[in-house]
Order: sequence, then C-alpha cells, then structure tokens
Amino acid sequence: MLILRMAMGNESVDLKKRAFLTRTSQALGAIAVCGAAIPLVQYLKPGREAAMSSLPVEFDLSGLKPGDQRTVLWRGKPIWVIRRTMEQVTALNKINPNLSDPNSQIEQQPEYAKNPYRSLRPDILVLVGLCTHLGCAPTFRPEPKAIDEDWDGGFFCSCHGSKFDLAGRVYKGVPAPTNLEVPPYYFKNDQLLVIGAHEA
Ligand code: FES
Repeated sequence: MLILRMAMGNESVDLKKRAFLTRTSQALGAIAVCGAAIPLVQYLKPGREAAMSSLPVEFDLSGLKPGDQRTVLWRGKPIWVIRRTMEQVTALNKINPNLSDPNSQIEQQPEYAKNPYRSLRPDILVLVGLCTHLGCAPTFRPEPKAIDEDWDGGFFCSCHGSKFDLAGRVYKGVPAPTNLEVPPYYFKNDQLLVIGAHEA
C-alpha cells in the first residue's frame, strides 16, 4: 500500500513536471518565432517590399563608373545596370556574324531599345538579368577572351553555356532562344534612372 502511494506520488510529480516543461517550451517557441519574424518584417519593409512590387524603382547613376555593373531588384527580378566604356560601345556597331538576332527583331525590348546598343543611351545598358533559356542568372564577363578565343565580352550563362554580347544579344548555337530582355525604363535626368516605366 505504501509502495503504491509512493508510486502514485511520483507519477503526480512527473505529470506536474511534464506540464511545466510543456508550457516552458511553448513559451520559448513563441519567443523564437517572434524573434525570427521581426528581422523578416524589417527585411520586407520598405526596400524589399518596393523591389517585389510592380512600382518603378529609381537608380542613381552617379557612382557607376565606365565598366561597372550593378543589380537592382524590380518585380522580384534582378535588373542589371551597366555603364559601358567607349570601346565597348564602339564594338557594338560591328555586326557580329555569330549573333542570332543582331537587329533585335524578336520583341525582347521596348521600341526605344531596338537599336545596336539595345538602350536609350549608348553608354547605359539596362537588362533583365535572367537567361532566356531556363532563367538562370548569367555572369557579367566583360574581359575579351574570358570565355573562348572569340569572346569580345558579354554575359555567360554557365547553366547550359548560353552566351550574350554586351548588348544582351544572344549568340547562335546556344540553348537560349532570344536576346536578354530589356525592361521599360527612362532617365529622369542625367543621373537618375527609373526602371519599370516608360517616360510619360
Ligand atoms: S538557363 Fe542559361 S543556358 Fe540554360
């Protein structure tokens, strides 16, 4: 009888302990969730939220030197902004026989970017930084011969080997079917680029 009572006493102590541990772990879990949510909310507001929305985003060109590339998010997509050098701009005028759509016949750009530079201003290139094959992110490789002997600089997609020149024009014989996309954009002034809208 004594042994039974002692056993029941231990059991009730165990149940109390278990209830206490459950409440404690639930409280700690709630704290952890709140702790994780705060940085996430901070991450989403306001820059990330704007980048995911369809609203236009502005980019200040003043820190972009010739040869530089930057990435901006618009509608959740990476948008490249590149300031091409004089030599790179001049090279775009030579029609490279290895390009698949050198005159941008396929609709991958607004009308104002249907020219040898595929841009409003010859020096500033604005492109959606996603390969037109399966959407990998190509890398900016401006150095001549960086990829092969005939390479004049451009963008290389290492997923399946697609190549694009410094205007985002696709090479022949690669998996990507079209040139890289040019998003809508305009210049508010000499130093301010607006991505995601045409000029009003
Ligand atoms: S996704 Fe770029 S080559 Fe396939």
